[in-house]
Amino acid sequence: MSRHTRGRNRGDCLSPTDPALLGNPLDFVYEDHLREREICATLDHLAGADMPDTELAAAALSYLLDELPAHMADEEDGLFPLLRLRCEPDDDIERAIGRLTSDHTGVKDDAPRVAYILAAIESEGRAMTNAEKSVLVRFGSDTRRHLILENAIILPFARLRLTRDDLAALRQGMMRRRGLDRLMENANAD
Ligand SMILES: [Fe+2]
Ligand SMILES: [Fe+2]
Repeated sequence: MSRHTRGRNRGDCLSPTDPALLGNPLDFVYEDHLREREICATLDHLAGADMPDTELAAAALSYLLDELPAHMADEEDGLFPLLRLRCEPDDDIERAIGRLTSDHTGVKDDAPRVAYILAAIESEGRAMTNAEKSVLVRFGSDTRRHLILENAIILPFARLRLTRDDLAALRQGMMRRRGLDRLMENANAD
């Protein structure tokens, strides 16, 4: 299994989401959610193994450190404020955003412990304690619940309410967070 093999745009969720999907930033967010669900499956797999696979632990660690913070910032600083601006009062979006933002706080509190365990597995190549297994499984199940709410409410309302300019602003922020705006400026300057 290669973490770097990926087809055009839609991929195997085993490597970071393809920036080509940023043409529609909501497609990118959706693909990020598929990737996040794959990471949850990886955490379950690690927790269920007598001797966890160090490469899988490294892959999940890299996701937690490099990709998840950018994804949460895409939502908190890009998507949620735009939804607050565009949704109708009857959409009741504030309640969903409040719940999701509090989930993000929980993730930020829990992620360092999960990362610590994954780093230990990667470097020591040892079995996990039962307490460590439960940390990974609980993080995965909390994340799955969060994804269900975002896919069921946030993305459909975003597709319905956001304007073209909103999507352009969202895309710009997502590119900036990943250093892709500088990459394009340099390419244009050549
Ligand atoms: Fe999300
Ligand atoms: Fe989220």
